[in-house]
Amino acid sequence: MRIDVLTLFPEMFSGPLQASILGRAIEGGLVEVVLHNIRDYAEDKHHVVDDYPFGGGPGMVMKPEPLFAAVDAVAGLEPAKGHVILLTPQGRLLTQSIGDELSRRERLILVCGHYEGVDERVREHLVDDEISIGDYVLSGGELPAMVLIDVVVRRLPGALGSEESLTEESHAQGLLEYPQYTRPAEFRGWQVPDVLLSGHHAQIAAWRRQQSILRTARRRPDLLERAALTEAERRLVAEALAEKD
Ligand SMILES: C[S@@+](CC[C@H](N)C(=O)[O-])C[C@H]1O[C@@H](n2cnc3c(N)ncnc32)[C@H](O)[C@@H]1O
Repeated sequence: MRIDVLTLFPEMFSGPLQASILGRAIEGGLVEVVLHNIRDYAEDKHHVVDDYPFGGGPGMVMKPEPLFAAVDAVAGLEPAKGHVILLTPQGRLLTQSIGDELSRRERLILVCGHYEGVDERVREHLVDDEISIGDYVLSGGELPAMVLIDVVVRRLPGALGSEESLTEESHAQGLLEYPQYTRPAEFRGWQVPDVLLSGHHAQIAAWRRQQSILRTARRRPDLLERAALTEAERRLVAEALAEKD
């Protein structure tokens, strides 16, 4: 997979792209992430990328010309036409299933906004998709782009040490993950649940499934609509929700 990022601040990406799972995936050739400075595509001599909003109001708006020029040039660098995504708080909310969907694409082109955002014609005529990472406003699209890259890359086969992590972790099956413990078995008088020390795999799996369901019912009941639950598990949810009230 190849991901091109169009940004005014390429230097912001260096840490996250070098460390941990992302760093390994890039180094191992699973994904290529190429950074492009939008300012390089501004044609005037001062490389101006923003201007005052028509109609007045606070802040500056990113001009359309450098963004169109950048996407056109970057898209032409590879035979695969990239799926062009604008990071914006007005986009569809990023979820695990959107991460899955995007990880199946051969190429993504991410456009990071800044200032008050981008000229509306970019949204209307340049991008294929708009993604938000949450209902809050950040200063720029760089952190959202990094979040999106991480979500997508960890879905790529081979990116994680164990593919099982993907099916077990929170949001994989519409449930939050069960509680995790490691050594020591007792810490400051707090014990790890006995079942996890029992070595009994079926009982451990049953306990984890139950904890996952209870935890989701108590913390994020909205997620349960997507979860495939048995009749008995639905009753467990009803009990947990009744306790909560
Ligand atoms: C200060 S924001 C602009 C917000 C814009 N004025 C609005 O109200 O919709 C600047 C840039 O940060 C990025 N951004 C901010 N919050 C975001 C979020 N929650 N998800 C994705 N991108 C975001 C976008 O690229 C946006 O163009």
